[in-house]
Amino acid sequence: MAGSALGDLAVAVSAAGGLGALACASLSPDRIREEVSSIRQRAPGPLNLNFFSHPTPQSDSQREASWRSRLAASGAALGVEPAGSSGPGGRAPFDATACALVEELLPEVVSFHFGLPSSDLLERVQATGARILSTATTVAEARWLEDHGCDAIIAQGIEAGGHRGMFLTTDLNTQSGTMALLPAVVDVVSVPVIAAGGIADARGIAAALGLGAAAVQLGTAYLRCPEAASSPLHRAALREAANRTTALTNVFTGRPARGLVNRLMLELGPIACDIPEFPLPAVMLAPLRAKAESMGLEDFSPLWAGQAAAMATEIPAAELTRLMAAAALEISQASVMA
Ligand SMILES: Cc1cc2nc3c(=O)[nH]c(=O)nc-3n(C[C@H](O)[C@H](O)[C@H](O)COP(=O)(O)O)c2cc1C
Repeated sequence: MAGSALGDLAVAVSAAGGLGALACASLSPDRIREEVSSIRQRAPGPLNLNFFSHPTPQSDSQREASWRSRLAASGAALGVEPAGSSGPGGRAPFDATACALVEELLPEVVSFHFGLPSSDLLERVQATGARILSTATTVAEARWLEDHGCDAIIAQGIEAGGHRGMFLTTDLNTQSGTMALLPAVVDVVSVPVIAAGGIADARGIAAALGLGAAAVQLGTAYLRCPEAASSPLHRAALREAANRTTALTNVFTGRPARGLVNRLMLELGPIACDIPEFPLPAVMLAPLRAKAESMGLEDFSPLWAGQAAAMATEIPAAELTRLMAAAALEISQASVMA
């Protein structure tokens, strides 16, 4: 979970027998090295390094100027201007530098969001012996990922928090919920399928296993754990999740992602047309977000969360993992016996 989790969460999940993951999209190579070294010292289990594999954004000055003026109007009271599109705050796509890092650090699993990198880079990752995962949001994407060498596929339903992993389609209207997508993907691919989206307790895990999932990937459920790197503002919003709603929005980064509804989503979206390409809007928004956050305001911050956000609890991640896994197995065994 880029921006919301670092090595501590991976270590805690791994200690409970889960697959710990480090989201690398917003980390520098040196920071990734540091985190991996710290994880390796504390967690003997396998490690998943996660990268974004979006295309490098094309700058479009007209689009950027228009988005800049919309951001400026929205943040006028803060007294800061939006940044240009080339400043810090972006998310790097998987490139030759990231690939060399994988060759150096040798994670057991490498997962991608937004498709897969170019075939030459993917072959280099495969040559390290790492298992390759990526996210599918449609049956067509799942087939494509299997055809292009994925060892397992994450079926991400529309309920999921954070960015939609969609890469063959941009049509949000045809995206499915986990309960429909998961069995449809299980039926057409021969690799294991990992269920993601709206799963936040043992009932959800047991349901996903019943629908043919080989494993589950939970995000939002861990955001309130002490080991997560969620900001105080994000945590405060999550505590109130039962009284709030989530929506899909592209106004923070240029790509659709699910988060708790807040001011920027209401003022400029939740889905804006003619927005600069991912991740340029995040770069442009950065000064407004920083100023608002320094004033204790969540108005310009992405509060990524899935539809089951109200079920996230504030307990240590290893305990949460053990409790959910044990209760899910109990439910699954009881349904087999019945
Ligand atoms: C705060 C947050 C950050 C996320 N960042 C990433 C990421 O960096 N890479 C990725 O592959 N998926 C990311 N996701 C999506 C998750 O991998 C997963 O699909 C999602 O959390 C599952 O739905 P759930 O949040 O309802 O559990 C993120 C999700 C959240 C909530």
